[in-house]
Amino acid sequence: MSSGQKNFYITTPIYYVNDKPHIGHAYTTISSDVLARFMQMDGYNVKFLTGTDEHGQKVEQSASLREKTPQEFTDEISYTFRKLAKDLNIIADDFIRTTESRHKEAVQHLWRVLQDKGYIYLGKYAGWYAVRDETFYKEDEIKDGLAPTGAPVEWVEEPSYFFKLSAFEDKLLKYYEDHPDFIAPKSRMNEVKSFVQGGLEDLSVSRTTFSWGVPVPDDPSHVVYVWLDALTNYISALGYPEKTEKMNDMWPEALHIVGKDILRFHAVFWPAFLMAADLPLPKRVYAHGWWTNEGEKISKSLGNVIDPYDIIGTYGLDPMRYFLIRAVPFGQDGDFSKRGMIGRLNSDLANDLGNLVQRVLSFVQKHASAKVPVAGEFLESDKEILQKAYSIAEKVRPFVVKEQALHKYAEGVWQLISDANKYIDRQQPWSLRKTDEKRMQTVLYVLLEVLRCLGLIIKPIMPDSMDRLMSWLGVPEDERQFYALSPSHALKPGVDLLKPEGLFPRYTEEE
Ligand code: ME8
Ligand code: MG
Repeated sequence: MSSGQKNFYITTPIYYVNDKPHIGHAYTTISSDVLARFMQMDGYNVKFLTGTDEHGQKVEQSASLREKTPQEFTDEISYTFRKLAKDLNIIADDFIRTTESRHKEAVQHLWRVLQDKGYIYLGKYAGWYAVRDETFYKEDEIKDGLAPTGAPVEWVEEPSYFFKLSAFEDKLLKYYEDHPDFIAPKSRMNEVKSFVQGGLEDLSVSRTTFSWGVPVPDDPSHVVYVWLDALTNYISALGYPEKTEKMNDMWPEALHIVGKDILRFHAVFWPAFLMAADLPLPKRVYAHGWWTNEGEKISKSLGNVIDPYDIIGTYGLDPMRYFLIRAVPFGQDGDFSKRGMIGRLNSDLANDLGNLVQRVLSFVQKHASAKVPVAGEFLESDKEILQKAYSIAEKVRPFVVKEQALHKYAEGVWQLISDANKYIDRQQPWSLRKTDEKRMQTVLYVLLEVLRCLGLIIKPIMPDSMDRLMSWLGVPEDERQFYALSPSHALKPGVDLLKPEGLFPRYTEEE
């Protein structure tokens, strides 16, 4: 970190272990992975955290329904999330569980800091609580016995510690004013502001009616409210309360990727806790949209929960990753439909990209001695497509680094693929073979270079397939970074090229 490299810290929410993971969790994790990989290939020193949120009433209830102790149950379900991250080919370098002692100690420390600074006091809570959301609701938010999220609520009366959230109304509003990019996409800022402007009441931050949680320091009849516990994961994983190098260098560069359902916790409560503890705030909270399944809300009671393993089994991991990134503008809601998935797989992957790779590489195998050809002089048309390929990171970088507009990144890359397809159709290497062998070599060289650049720029989205492509091209592993998007790292004439295999087989539905 002293190398002058820029730091980037990205986090997913830590998922509740009340049930096994589904496509929504996979989506957040994959989006974060695409960002993490892009930044890493772009030269950033990246830290990427994911994990599981294991305390609270919801998890305790789910465990007891299955006649397991909370610890047995959380061990089991946490493992399925850890395994999913691996099976999604995620580069997270840490997986935090809130039941780990490194985390519990951090929570208790933060609690003490908040208490010492006078932001925590003992009182009594009387109000509505939704176990499903682990959220307290105000009277006027409840309609027909349900929270705005549709979760059932129960009336709770118990002694409780409170956090003086009300003291942070103005500070938060000023912070949003001074940091207009703190909440993204921009459209979400107003929603958060108006929630704060509507008035902040002090927040109940401990519970006494169950015990599955972090004990409140010096008052173990209370457990810490699961959201105060959970949010702390983002710094406990960096070694808080130690003043570690990571707390110093990584924490202020944090980007929290969350679903829109939990924006309030990340953009209101979490900054308030951090302000109260005199800790820096993360750089940005990005709230993405919500997936439906064939137009319907995804829910266990409707029985339409999408298992990511089914999608991987049917279409493959990389096509699923691509679909999730490309099909929906990041930040907006999206619908997972079979038709949509197959459409993207067959047109964008099998046709546009897969065929391009296949045509070029098998042609080189058959008609150019399976080696990188020697290029002759470049014509304008060659220079033009090469220029587009070498500058592809410059073109899409702002979408990723500034806006996290992942769909625009994919669109920008597919524009280059379409240009490359036009180039091959115009240059017709197969005709040149009979008329101008030297020119054919040049055209193939240009196309191979374009494929190399595509392999690099698409790798964050489809790492496995693009690594295969780059291996066929003989791109050394240590040159699979964006700095290599330049003629100075071009393929070397005479180097052997491997025989390609189908990258993205067309999906044909069984009759
Ligand atoms: O909220 N569409 O955990 P959680 C898109 N433990 N994203 C979805 C989704 C859908 N249909 N369903 C779930 C919690 N997600 C807390 C977080 S963080 C300190 C604590 C994703 O298991 C989305 O990212 O309920 C959402 O925010 C998250 O899963 C909620 O996961
Ligand atoms: Mg949830």
